[in-house]
Amino acid sequence: MIRKIGIVGFGQMGSGIAQVSAAAGYPVLGMDMSDAVFKRGLGYITKSLDKAIEKGKADAALKEKVLGNIKQATALKEFADCDIVIEAVIENIDIKKQIFKELDTVCKPETILASNTSSLSIGDMASVTNRRDRFVGLHFFNPVPVMKLCEVVRTIDTSDAVFKAAFSFAESVGKSCITAKDSPGYVVNVLLVPYLLDAIRQFERGLATREDIDTGMMLGCGHPMGPLTLTDFIGLDTILYIADIMFEEFKDSHYSAPPLLRRMVNAGYLGKKAGRGFYEYDKK
Ligand code: CAA
Repeated sequence: MIRKIGIVGFGQMGSGIAQVSAAAGYPVLGMDMSDAVFKRGLGYITKSLDKAIEKGKADAALKEKVLGNIKQATALKEFADCDIVIEAVIENIDIKKQIFKELDTVCKPETILASNTSSLSIGDMASVTNRRDRFVGLHFFNPVPVMKLCEVVRTIDTSDAVFKAAFSFAESVGKSCITAKDSPGYVVNVLLVPYLLDAIRQFERGLATREDIDTGMMLGCGHPMGPLTLTDFIGLDTILYIADIMFEEFKDSHYSAPPLLRRMVNAGYLGKKAGRGFYEYDKK
């Protein structure tokens, strides 16, 4: 039975998962290596709730409940009594393995460990623990309070009971879930990322302007954002990272990053978060 939630990594994804969990009534313990990042995450939550209140879609009581349900931890040992700990730190396998190794030693034996990784192997992370059967992927989408999906990822070792518990937990925070194998990109990114890479390739070869590529896909296919805006929104570095992992795994040109993407990332054009990507943004 999942009652108490731990979240390690309190950036955009971690804080979003904390928000939906706290809104569903779970006590949440959150942590980030940097106190400033944790505070920024709380700021995202407050802003998102204030916007919802302004629109009459939430009230002050919900805001109080969400913020009241979230507590900050300053060391991994504080996660000992959590029923599930979800990791949402940067996509670096060594950092993630280090965190899971420590969580495995400090958490009670029943604790389920989960990663929100979009591309790294869940089985690889599970291999550094002594609880491979109690390890899953819970891949949420950005912005977490808005996007309805969660991909629940099982490895060859994940037990049926743990998979079901993780699946039910994601449903209980308001998500519709799909089951995915522990394969790079799972279901969504293995389809989405080649589409985004193709849009960048077409922009690079001068097929159309950035605006026309985006408008084409928004109005022609009913997408809420065009592919270049969506790449800016997700982060060019994130898309490059996922593409490189999938290319490494599948050795298929479908997943190879266009030179323009790599050049933009090297030059710091990381998208919305950096104030510039395919478009320019007000950093505030
Ligand atoms: N928290 C809470 N609510 C939010 C929010 C946030 N961070 N951001 C937006 N919203 C809400 C708004 O309040 C608004 O609510 P109402 O409709 O009830 O008024 C609604 O979402 C729409 O927002 P906006 O009016 O501000 O702007 P928009 O219509 O342009 O929508 C968007 C913004 C929801 C982000 C929309 O453009 C969209 O769905 N884009 C596609 C996002 C997407 O594809 N995400 C997945 C990325 S892939 C990924 O995450 C996986 C990976 O591994 C890379």
